[in-house]
Amino acid sequence: MKELRIDDHHKIIFADFREVIIEEKADLIFADPPFGIGFDANMQTYNRKPDALSYVEIRKDNYPSFINELIRWCYNNLKGNGSLWLVSGWNNLRHVLNAIEDAGFYLLNHCIWHYQFGVFTKKRFVTSHYHLLLAVKNASNYVFNKPEHYAEDVWYIKRSYNRGVKTAGNELPDELVAKCIKTSSNVGDLVVDPCLGSGSTMKNCILLKRRCIGIEINSLLEERIRTKLSPL
Ligand SMILES: C[S@@+](CC[C@H](N)C(=O)[O-])C[C@H]1O[C@@H](n2cnc3c(N)ncnc32)[C@H](O)[C@@H]1O
Repeated sequence: MKELRIDDHHKIIFADFREVIIEEKADLIFADPPFGIGFDANMQTYNRKPDALSYVEIRKDNYPSFINELIRWCYNNLKGNGSLWLVSGWNNLRHVLNAIEDAGFYLLNHCIWHYQFGVFTKKRFVTSHYHLLLAVKNASNYVFNKPEHYAEDVWYIKRSYNRGVKTAGNELPDELVAKCIKTSSNVGDLVVDPCLGSGSTMKNCILLKRRCIGIEINSLLEERIRTKLSPL
């Protein structure tokens, strides 16, 4: 299990989250897992050359058990007043919602992120949203730093298009990750991301003075993570 220690409060573990035991329970878990949307014959990775690095996908038929394991892992690794932000597409949403309930979480909000650049379609509508699920362990004790007076559950946030830059699959915009972190944690809190990808959660935790542990199965992403964190 390889570790990349950034400083005393920020580290990345390259491993399957299911093999990782974290010593301190988290105040917040931010999880943006693979969506299991069936990239055929591609159990290990798919590659959107030339601009994407590899990404470990989950086979569609394995998705219900994968998401159950992930959400139970999150529940077990959160403090009693902890929160989970979970990003999901629509295809497997039913499995995700069932797993949240089965694990014992209380679903506080079901936010929608509307983004631009959905993939063009001819015979169906273009998908241009993700689901941002905010779940807590204790419905009467959790952190909620309301971002504005009238805080709505539909978020219009642009995603950057890094033409020619080698990115990991599906990097989230900083604005979105920062909004989740600020809403559901305080300065000094421990944030854990079990599917770290390119390091967006780590980057925003460093900027927002939260401690962070990131877990990523694909060690090929180390280069991208280092690039992303290097200006900080
Ligand atoms: C949607 S991406 C995360 C993107 C990330 N939020 C970002 O902004 O870059 C999902 C990540 O989960 C990783 N992953 C898949 N299975 C995993 C597992 N069992 N344990 C840890 N990471 C896993 C994939 O390799 C991929 O990098």
